Amino acid sequence: MGDSLAEAKQLFPTCYSIEIAEKYYKLAKERFKSEPSIHLLHGNSAEKLREIDFSKARSAFFWLDAHYSGGGTGGEGNCPLIKEVGYIASLPIEKYILIDDARFILSPYQGERYCDIEQLFAILPPENYNVIIQDIVISVPANARKIVEEYCLKHTSSSRRKIKSKRVRVIVKKIVGDL
Ligand SMILES: C[S@@+](CC[C@H](N)C(=O)[O-])C[C@H]1O[C@@H](n2cnc3c(N)ncnc32)[C@H](O)[C@@H]1O
Repeated sequence: MGDSLAEAKQLFPTCYSIEIAEKYYKLAKERFKSEPSIHLLHGNSAEKLREIDFSKARSAFFWLDAHYSGGGTGGEGNCPLIKEVGYIASLPIEKYILIDDARFILSPYQGERYCDIEQLFAILPPENYNVIIQDIVISVPANARKIVEEYCLKHTSSSRRKIKSKRVRVIVKKIVGDL
């Protein structure tokens, strides 16, 4: 636990991480105990996010992946994503947002377990460029749009397009067959 944080600390001078399950919070505390640039908060990220002081920040990068994941993790049946994004969108700073496991959001709405894609896109910062690629929702300010677009174009390979077109054929056939 804490692998994302271990990656993040290589890129950012200060990192905050929020974990609801006491067991994993304690494990992360132990793992990062000698890292003064890492701040760990215990609780529901939908609320704890509000305790972070953004008043001196011009921009912030958010990696959102809080959701129930089995095996003693917390937050079962209560995905914090809509509350997190709603709060982040209201911050008067540049917001770089990456939301992991987009496949759960893209699948049919599962109640409070994950969130609804339409609801999510309605509340992402309106000034941001938004895209979904490689299981990640990316929402960035205009200055990062070109970088993200180039990344997306590079990683939409023709072989993947072929695989996808096969899948599309299957689903279209099913839909048409049922009409
Ligand atoms: C996919 S895992 C994250 C793994 C983490 N990024 C890492 O690298 O170790 C999701 C975590 O979110 C936590 N979680 C679920 N709902 C939460 C919430 N509302 N607030 C904070 N953490 C939550 C779970 O307990 C679980 O540990």
